[in-house]
Amino acid sequence: MSVTYLDNAASSWPKPPQVKEAMIEVIDDYAANPGRGGHALAMKASKALFRTRVQLARLFGIENPNNLFFYQNATQALNQAIKGFLQPGDHVVTSSIEHNSVRRPLEYLRTKLGIEITYVRPREDQFFYAEDFAQAFRKETKLLVVSHASNLTGMILPIKELGELCEHHRLTFLVDASQTAGVLPIDVADMKIDMLAFPGHKGLYGPQGTGCLFVRDEINLEPLLHGGTGSQSEAIEQPTTRPDRYESGTANTVGIAGLGAGVSFVLETGIEKIHQQEWALAKMTLEELMKIDGVKVYGPDLSIERVGLVAFNIMGADASEIAFILDQQYQIAVRAGYHCTPLGHETVGTEKRGAVRASFGVFNDENDVRRLISAIREISEAFYVG
Ligand SMILES: Cc1ncc(COP(=O)(O)O)c(C=O)c1O
Repeated sequence: MSVTYLDNAASSWPKPPQVKEAMIEVIDDYAANPGRGGHALAMKASKALFRTRVQLARLFGIENPNNLFFYQNATQALNQAIKGFLQPGDHVVTSSIEHNSVRRPLEYLRTKLGIEITYVRPREDQFFYAEDFAQAFRKETKLLVVSHASNLTGMILPIKELGELCEHHRLTFLVDASQTAGVLPIDVADMKIDMLAFPGHKGLYGPQGTGCLFVRDEINLEPLLHGGTGSQSEAIEQPTTRPDRYESGTANTVGIAGLGAGVSFVLETGIEKIHQQEWALAKMTLEELMKIDGVKVYGPDLSIERVGLVAFNIMGADASEIAFILDQQYQIAVRAGYHCTPLGHETVGTEKRGAVRASFGVFNDENDVRRLISAIREISEAFYVG
């Protein structure tokens, strides 16, 4: 039996065939070093990077593609944004569902620079409200950083309202779009997003080793890395021009070409269609799980849309054990544990036991949900004593 892959929130799989084809084309035809030479193959490699930048700019309503910088993943992009922006004495507001890729750089800067952090919690209905973030702002507040959607429950934050709030209070707004890039519409101008970090290997269907940071013109981040950029080589200092200032070292041309093909796939398929399909599968899963004795699901009321991921537990069973059984006996791939968000687990009350997470991608269908539900029914019968 083939694997039922329900771990798309970690990395999407399978990839559309055109992603593999684009990567093989680079390897076979022009895997020269982009931006390091004027010969035809180097120029072709440079153009491949620029093409992907242009596609991403189109996807996110970004005017200048050179304001997008390539990294290996969302974590690197978030580190560049957070550590390149915050100064000693700054105060930052964030949410209580953040991934460690936001929380750890912030906590590191708390120790190193003495920045202060306020974590805003959701209300009783488990949703976040823009007013609650506004309450946390102080005169030293410089940055609001939030995930667009929780990587534990799929709950979506009110990004447009938060962007307006930041504009009103003259704060910089950084959004971690790890669970929403390629899944929900994002327009940085309309949502007043100053910096947007996202991976290429999840909802954009690119390969692992790709991620990106958009930074608005007026924000001058301190680069995290210094080194060869292929431009202004005679200068001792890092170049001031973008994207070179923030892209030291040889780029992942193969991966970025694959990411470009992934973005084309997303644009052709349609973001709204992808989201509706993934949410329908997640909702169906939640509804079916709620009917099984001894199963507990997490997250806010089902009447409001989330992104396509589901967190649950079987009472009496360990989350890792459930994932292990799903993998070994049913060939169903899910992720158990803390999902790099102990904060998120604390917020939903699973900080002691973790949870099982099933996450859907565009290649999943209702049969995958049925397989998961039937497996969970059998496992819960074995474990749960009502
Ligand atoms: C909300 C969120 N932020 C950040 C990350 C980190 O992404 P990456 O693995 O590309 O560094 C993830 C990945 O799971 C995530 O879900």
